[in-house]
Amino acid sequence: MTCRAAIIDQFEDAADGVRVVSDFILPPLGDTDVEIAVVAAGVNPVDCLVRQGYGDPLLRRYGAPGFPRVLGCDVAGIVSAVGAGVDRFRVGDRVWAAVPPWRQGAYAERVRLPADWVAHAPTRIPLRDAAALPYAGRVVWQALAESAGLHRVRGQRLFVHAGAGGVGSIAIQLAVAWGHEIGSTCSTGNVSFLRELGATQVVDYTREQFDQVCRDYDVVFNTLAPDPPRWDERPHLRILRRGGTYVTLITPVMHLATLLGARPGLVLAGGLYWSTALWQRAVHARRYHWILFQPDGRTLAELASYVDDGLLRPVIRSRYPLEQVAAAQQDCERGHGRGKVMIDIGDEEALLADPASANRGEQ
Ligand SMILES: NC(=O)c1ccc[n+]([C@@H]2O[C@H](COP(=O)([O-])OP(=O)(O)OC[C@H]3O[C@@H](n4cnc5c(N)ncnc54)[C@H](OP(=O)(O)O)[C@@H]3O)[C@@H](O)[C@H]2O)c1
Repeated sequence: MTCRAAIIDQFEDAADGVRVVSDFILPPLGDTDVEIAVVAAGVNPVDCLVRQGYGDPLLRRYGAPGFPRVLGCDVAGIVSAVGAGVDRFRVGDRVWAAVPPWRQGAYAERVRLPADWVAHAPTRIPLRDAAALPYAGRVVWQALAESAGLHRVRGQRLFVHAGAGGVGSIAIQLAVAWGHEIGSTCSTGNVSFLRELGATQVVDYTREQFDQVCRDYDVVFNTLAPDPPRWDERPHLRILRRGGTYVTLITPVMHLATLLGARPGLVLAGGLYWSTALWQRAVHARRYHWILFQPDGRTLAELASYVDDGLLRPVIRSRYPLEQVAAAQQDCERGHGRGKVMIDIGDEEALLADPASANRGEQ
C-alpha cells in the first residue's frame, strides 16, 4: 500500500531536502501491528537530527530503514487496520503513539507500528493537538517518573532546564500535578508562560545564570542541548543538593555513535556514564541518569488520563500542512518558542467517518 509522505532520499543538512511524495510504500503490516491514519504529527529536534544522519550507525543497529526514509516521532490518528493478532484496538479507534527514530516515521498519511507502542488518545482534546504530547511525554515520564520517582512522592523541589520547550512544558505540568515545587529557565517572553504552567522560580536566561541564583534542588532535569554540543553538567550539578537526582536528555550517546560507529560509541558512552554516575554516587550520594527514548504504549495510556483529568495540556507553537514540512523543521531548528511545532496531515472527522480509506493515496 502507498500513501503521501514527507521523505528524505539521503541524509540532508538542510530542511528543504525533505520532500513530499504521493507513493511512499508502507512497510508490511505485521500480525501485532496497528496501522494509523495520521491526523497530525509533532516535530521534535530529533527529527531534524535524524534528517542529518545523526546517530545513524546506532539507529541502524536497532533496525532503522534505509531510504526513502520518513521522519517524525509523534503521531495521533485513527486506527485504519490491525494485524491478525491485535485485539486491543479496532479500526476507527482514536489513538496516539511515539515513534522511535529507528522506524519509518509519522510525517505521512499512514504509519504502521507495534500495538504495544500505541494507546487510546485522550478524549478531551482533538487529535491534531494530542499529537504534540507522545514523544516528549514519554521521555518526561522516563526521566521524572521512572528515573527520579517523582510520581510517587510530593513536595520535592524540581529544576527543569529549558521549561518552555516541547519537553520542558510537559515536565512542569506533570510535576505540578504530582505536587512538586518547580524552578525553570526561559527567555524574557516566556517568563509569564512558565509561571502560568506552575513554575515558582523562573530564571530569565537572558539576564541571569541559573547556577548563580538557584540552589539545593532535589531533582535537576536537563532538557537543553548546548550548541555546539558539549557535555558541561557542572552548572546543573552545582544547583543539586547532596543526595539529589540529576536526570538528563542531553547525552553523548548518539554523537559518539555517529563519530566512532555504534559499538565503539556505545562502549565509550557507557564508560563516561558509569564513571560519572559512580563519582556522583560515591562523593555526593547523588543519583545520575541519562535518558534515551524507549517506546511504551502504557505510558501513553497513563498520559491520556492526565489530559482527560485536565492536568496536562498540549502547548502548540505553530502548525504547518505536510507540504510545508521544511518550514516546520526550520521552525523547530530555531530552538526557541513555546511548546511544539505541528504538521497537520488528515482531518479527524473525515477519518473517523471512513478510517480505512479516507486520505489514502494509491492502493
Ligand atoms: N534523550 C532523548 O531521548 C531525548 C528525547 C527528547 C528530546 N531530547 C532532547 O531534548 C531537548 C529538548 O527537546 P524539546 O522538544 O523540548 O525542544 P524544543 O521544543 O525545541 O525546546 C526548545 C526550548 O529551549 C529553550 N531554550 C533555548 N535556549 C535556552 C537557554 N539558553 N536556556 C533555557 N532555555 C532555552 C527555548 O525557550 P525560549 O524560547 O524561551 O528561548 C525553547 O522553548 C532537545 O535537545 C532534544 O534533542 C532528547
